Amino acid sequence: MQKKLVPDYIERLETYQAGKPIDELAREKNLTRISKIASNENPLGPSPMAIREMTNVLWDVHRYPDMSAYQLKKALSELYRLKPENIVLGNGSEGIMGYICRAFLQEGDEVVTASNTFIGFLILAKSVGAKLIEVPRKPDYKYDIEAMAKKITPDTKIVYLANPDNPTGTYITKLEFDTLMKHVSPHTIVILDEAYFEFAKEWPDYPDSMDYRYDNVVTLRTFSKAYGLSGVRVGYGFGHDVLINALHKVKLPFEPSLVAQKGAFGALSDRPHLDRTLHNNRERFQDLWDFLTRHDFKPIASVCNFITFKTGSEAASLALFNGLLDKGVIIRALRANLMPDHVRVSLGTRDEMNHFFEVMEEILPAYNAKFGRPTK
Ligand SMILES: Cc1ncc(COP(=O)(O)O)c(C=O)c1O
Repeated sequence: MQKKLVPDYIERLETYQAGKPIDELAREKNLTRISKIASNENPLGPSPMAIREMTNVLWDVHRYPDMSAYQLKKALSELYRLKPENIVLGNGSEGIMGYICRAFLQEGDEVVTASNTFIGFLILAKSVGAKLIEVPRKPDYKYDIEAMAKKITPDTKIVYLANPDNPTGTYITKLEFDTLMKHVSPHTIVILDEAYFEFAKEWPDYPDSMDYRYDNVVTLRTFSKAYGLSGVRVGYGFGHDVLINALHKVKLPFEPSLVAQKGAFGALSDRPHLDRTLHNNRERFQDLWDFLTRHDFKPIASVCNFITFKTGSEAASLALFNGLLDKGVIIRALRANLMPDHVRVSLGTRDEMNHFFEVMEEILPAYNAKFGRPTK
């Protein structure tokens, strides 16, 4: 039989759609005030210490980066009291997910995860032809650990858990994780994606996976969210030597870049910037939560830097999304996550959130009338 140029499982993939860039919206709509609260970035920007480190290294970019990333791994290992040999770095935590898929997954392998979770991972798993088993959630949007456990078989190669989850912001407790692990064989890899760890850690029963190591678990974290470095692409993973060694074999040697390594090192050294970020997040969370409940939306209990809520229909989600976009506020409609009747709003600065509230107040009367909602 003639081989196909593009494998079927690649043809079936949909290209990832990122949030609209600020410049593009400004150009298209001739707007000057734009608030992008769509991609769960740090609205305060990067740490000044990260900027200083990155600026200083620009004169050295004719050299390849340090493959062993000595400085950054040392800083991470001191912070989390681990050996540098148990750390892998990559172009964002998504880069490391890519290495995991490359190292461990083959066409037809089973991957168990929750429904409607982080699309980036789903695309990577599908791109190597894995068979995804997406387990429906509980009515409160939390992962249904018992149902997930039932889907884990000896054929399961990877279990992917975003803890906390994107796009819902829900999380699983240590007890739930331990319960699930009872069903996982030592030959199955569990990815514990903790991209929102720094925000979630503020909540009392959110578990820190550093406190309970299993040999077949890889914990992933990132500098893209609380550390404000989405644009330079740097993430890290912790795991057993056997897993980390395998990942280093398939990893591109010079990722993350020299600038990214320095930026991450600077960000990690800047505790005050992280504290400002968490403080802003706490305040903006409360403002947005209060606004949404006051307007009869039902926000999902999130421990992250975003809140997702139900609109009731895809048409209603698009009406909110487009109504806000026309006035310069970019949020996320969740069609690609197969949650078309929900939208997600990232927590921005006070000014960005006020922009969101002002435009919402403007568009809500017509929106409520059109979609049969109570008027305030
Ligand atoms: C749950 C989750 N994991 C991973 C990522 C990717 O982060 P990074 O920028 O480190 O690749 C995201 C980004 O939105 C995310 O929401």
